[in-house]
Amino acid sequence: MPAHLLLDRDGPIATITLNRPDKLNALNEALLVELRDAVLSLDHEPSVRAVILTGAGDRAFAAGADIAAMLEMSPVQARLFSELGHVVCARLEQAHFPVIGAINGFALGGGCELALACDFLYASDKAKLGQPEVNLGVMPGFGGTQRLARRIGIARARELCFTGDAVGAEEAMRIGLVNAVVRHEELGHHARQVARKIASKGPLAVAQCKRAMLRGEDVPLAVACEVERQAFASLFGSADQREGMKAFLEKRAASFEGR
Ligand code: COA
Repeated sequence: MPAHLLLDRDGPIATITLNRPDKLNALNEALLVELRDAVLSLDHEPSVRAVILTGAGDRAFAAGADIAAMLEMSPVQARLFSELGHVVCARLEQAHFPVIGAINGFALGGGCELALACDFLYASDKAKLGQPEVNLGVMPGFGGTQRLARRIGIARARELCFTGDAVGAEEAMRIGLVNAVVRHEELGHHARQVARKIASKGPLAVAQCKRAMLRGEDVPLAVACEVERQAFASLFGSADQREGMKAFLEKRAASFEGR
């Protein structure tokens, strides 16, 4: 059993809760290792069709990498810590299921970077997001300098990384960092509703869609479009493709099996 995470499973939907509320869910090595392993283990289960990532307690998704743990790190240790953060983010990004970040409070530094590795985010009206590392004499180390720019554009990302300013939920929505702001009490419900909707769709199709959109971000458009063509073609001949199309023609709801 992980010591720093809560894992919940409701049919095809898994919820991972970062669980160090007394430290505002700050990300230390032990938590990151548990998160890495938890995501990998869920990725090995085809029956998982959507994952929600959130923070325990009422105040934070994660208030950053653990500053106390980082204080005495040597460059070599910092490099390894950064690599661990990158591995966790890559696992979230590359998993077969969509990951919805439910930002229930502070998502700062490494917390914001973890959020950026989610497919998309919903924020509670109490959320605050930002990259305040420059206040500590360091910089983002879990992918923030790259993923933030890809999500909100390079100029806004530079502004946030260079000033260390955090943005509230409404501003985060305005700049495209989160998809929607919901009342704090309703955040979990909202995320689960969307997760259930995704889980009701063709799982192979959702997984291929996620993969094509991720792969396409980093390659020229012509290559990205070829990635899409291959992914599209790969779905034909699956039981789900026949079921989805037959169900439409027979005017009934489709029942997908993920094969
Ligand atoms: N690393 C380690 N511990 C952290 C932490 C972090 N990133 N963020 C918060 N904590 C701990 C605090 O040290 C405190 O622990 P304590 O009760 O044992 O003293 C506890 O969490 C509560 O935080 P506190 O600062 O007392 O709450 P607050 O309401 O006054 O302020 C924040 C909330 C988020 C504004 C403030 O905690 C903060 O600025 N955190 C650091 C954010 C940051 O720089 N993140 C990037 C790290 S690279």
